[in-house]
Amino acid sequence: MDIYEKAAGILLKAKKAVAFTGAGVSAESGIPTFRDPGGIWEKFEPEEIGTVPALLRTAKNNPDLIRRFLLDTVKVFEKSKANPAHLGVAKLEALGIVASVITQNIDGLHIDAGSQTVFEVHGSLFRARCLSCGQRFPLDRAALFKRAHEALDDEAGFRIENMTRILPSCTCGGLTRPDVVMFGESVQQLEEAFQATTACDVMLILGTSGVVYPAAACPEQAYRAGAKLIEINPRESCFGPIVDVFIKTSAATAMPLLMQLVESR
Ligand code: APR
Repeated sequence: MDIYEKAAGILLKAKKAVAFTGAGVSAESGIPTFRDPGGIWEKFEPEEIGTVPALLRTAKNNPDLIRRFLLDTVKVFEKSKANPAHLGVAKLEALGIVASVITQNIDGLHIDAGSQTVFEVHGSLFRARCLSCGQRFPLDRAALFKRAHEALDDEAGFRIENMTRILPSCTCGGLTRPDVVMFGESVQQLEEAFQATTACDVMLILGTSGVVYPAAACPEQAYRAGAKLIEINPRESCFGPIVDVFIKTSAATAMPLLMQLVESR
């Protein structure tokens, strides 16, 4: 039996599968991953932009680097849309196979693809958080990207203050920041994610190197809870020893093939 048939068989018997995803699932939506060749951590150092203090320090000492980073991010995200991998995960939920998605991504593409129960453990670029009252609210993408281009496009005119204009102020009048989790900040919806992980009988791991904790503990937790693990990744990750089926290819290639088998049964 080939690995796709084996994986489809496991998914079809699943009572409560969970999808656990990382940057690789959005690679074919044009969003670079972090640790692959040409990835984000090759172009920018985590020490320069990985935490709020680092970002502010770099914004003061090297504002053009921050402008380039933010503009790169805007240009990539405004063009990105859900790819066949995201759509396949959403279809598995619609078929009652996947109960929830735990994603490390901040791109909102699982929700765009139609997934209903999504734990965005590293937050979302399309949600703001007030620095004064802590209130969170969704951001309109078009308005966000329009404000970002106004603040970032003019190389000569860019100043740190421009950054505060990219996001709307809170109704309480406070300044806001993107509701994303930077290094050293607490992860979001972790309790729900860990509950889903320990309750699942199958975990579908898509496109993650599995090196950033606590999110990367999810597959290990599912394994210890007796779940069967299926991984799709063009490269080996650190989950190799615990997965039952390893499909060594890209997510947007593998998911349609897997879905054909799942839906044909
Ligand atoms: N399909 C599937 N997997 C892919 C694809 C693809 N098309 N392209 C790359 N990959 C795999 C890579 O082989 C790698 O294992 O996706 C993984 C990407 O790994 P990372 O870049 O480390 O991304 P991720 O695992 O999501 O990182 C976790 O680290 O920097 C932090 O907060 C950031 O959420 C991020 C976290």
